[in-house]
Amino acid sequence: MAVGGFRDEKAFGEHLQTVLSPAKPVDDPTLLHGRDEALKKVSRALYADGRHVFIYGDRGVGKSSVAKTAASLYRDGRKDYLWVSCERNSTLFSVMHSLARSVIELHLGEERVRKHEFSIAFGPLRYQIESTTSTPAEPLREPTNLDECMQLAADIANICSPKAIVVVDEFDAIEHVEDRQRFADLLKRMGDRGVPLKFIISGIATSMHDLLEGHLSSIRQLETVDLNPLDWSARFEIIQAAGLEFDLQVAEAVSIRIAAISNGFPHYVHLLTEQLLWQAFDDPADCQVAEWGHFRNSLDAAVGAIAPHLRRPYDMATQRVSDDYRDIVWAAADAFDLQRHSSKIFDSYVWICQQSGKLPLERSKFSQRLNDLKKPHFGKLLKNLQGKSGWYEFSENMLRGFVRLVSEHAGIQLRDRDYDKEPKRLTARAPVVRSLQAYRRDYTPPVRFRGEIEGDDQS
Ligand SMILES: Nc1ncnc2c1ncn2[C@@H]1O[C@H](COP(=O)(O)OP(=O)(O)O)[C@@H](O)[C@H]1O
Ligand SMILES: [Mg+2]
Repeated sequence: MAVGGFRDEKAFGEHLQTVLSPAKPVDDPTLLHGRDEALKKVSRALYADGRHVFIYGDRGVGKSSVAKTAASLYRDGRKDYLWVSCERNSTLFSVMHSLARSVIELHLGEERVRKHEFSIAFGPLRYQIESTTSTPAEPLREPTNLDECMQLAADIANICSPKAIVVVDEFDAIEHVEDRQRFADLLKRMGDRGVPLKFIISGIATSMHDLLEGHLSSIRQLETVDLNPLDWSARFEIIQAAGLEFDLQVAEAVSIRIAAISNGFPHYVHLLTEQLLWQAFDDPADCQVAEWGHFRNSLDAAVGAIAPHLRRPYDMATQRVSDDYRDIVWAAADAFDLQRHSSKIFDSYVWICQQSGKLPLERSKFSQRLNDLKKPHFGKLLKNLQGKSGWYEFSENMLRGFVRLVSEHAGIQLRDRDYDKEPKRLTARAPVVRSLQAYRRDYTPPVRFRGEIEGDDQS
């Protein structure tokens, strides 16, 4: 039982989490794959005086990772990078307050402070560390207007360095739109007055307009970066780089399935590869290639590791007497496209029924059930696209990955975009498993539907 010379479970587990972290954003450029263009865009925007960056996309697509990595590349020193995660009740004032407090905490630990050689003064907010004592003269109060926020931003840049950078993460969590809009006001004013502190804001959205509802959403001080799911080569890179850390090759068929299940959401690539490597570690023999058997065994643990908030809506939609709803949910998660027309979902549904040797429902019954999946007691799993009738998407695209994982576990391999068109950098070779052929197979009519009389279609 060993992988890459690791025999001890603790040592293996500790090393594993340095390369794979399904629940923690990456902040190291060597671990960030497929985001060169995004990083370039961010770093070029940050060179310009008065410019800030707004990164948006789906949950789990890698926004925090790009924000953190870009910030760590931009900053000068360890203490020039501040990070704050927003919550429902966050406001510009509470965020600025929390940033200033972290500056104080960072510097309080400093030897210079301990030796009483250092002072921090946040001008109008009256926080002062006297040079003779490290006890604050007065606690720092929260700013109450934009001018105070501006002053705080200028003080932070002054205390840290002119290359200080702030990541404001989970910006979408802020409940009130006016609170979000104040951030845009601050960035605009900082640009006008030449305050050097940089901001990278990241949040779930399909555009900046979504989060600012029009207010200043096209200000020139903000460069926007829209993150899409990772392409195939980046997905493969994550898998292979993790394997290489343990001198382990990952069989091509396995890499393809992990990459396909993920639909380009790196969380799933990390999760599945992590479980795969544990299977390789548990192999009674010294393992050099992670094979199909390891992958199949890892699916159980991967399904079990999914967060309850993703599992719950799926269970609500599918735990029913018949499997019809489950098959329709799987059909909705088939293919690469995150937004699909009901006719395409129907094609996928028929294909899934063919795979499992069932007669599909007729189109009208299928449509009723597809529509049910939008309802609260079906976990609101799906929603319609605004202004596009017949188009559906998952209420949360991370859910899609879970659905794809569960269907894989049950033996139905949902499809992605054609990977042959992507540059391949695979080194490991393994026989292509039979089920990969299904991956490329198209649904071809005629198909018999449930309720039809035997022989009808021949008349
Ligand atoms: N480009 C990438 N390369 C490798 N791993 C990534 C990449 N982007 C994200 N990840 C991993 O995917 C998971 C989700 O990323 P995260 O940045 O937290 O997403 P988001 O902020 O969009 O919800 C994390 O485990 C992170 O380590
Ligand atoms: Mg995030």
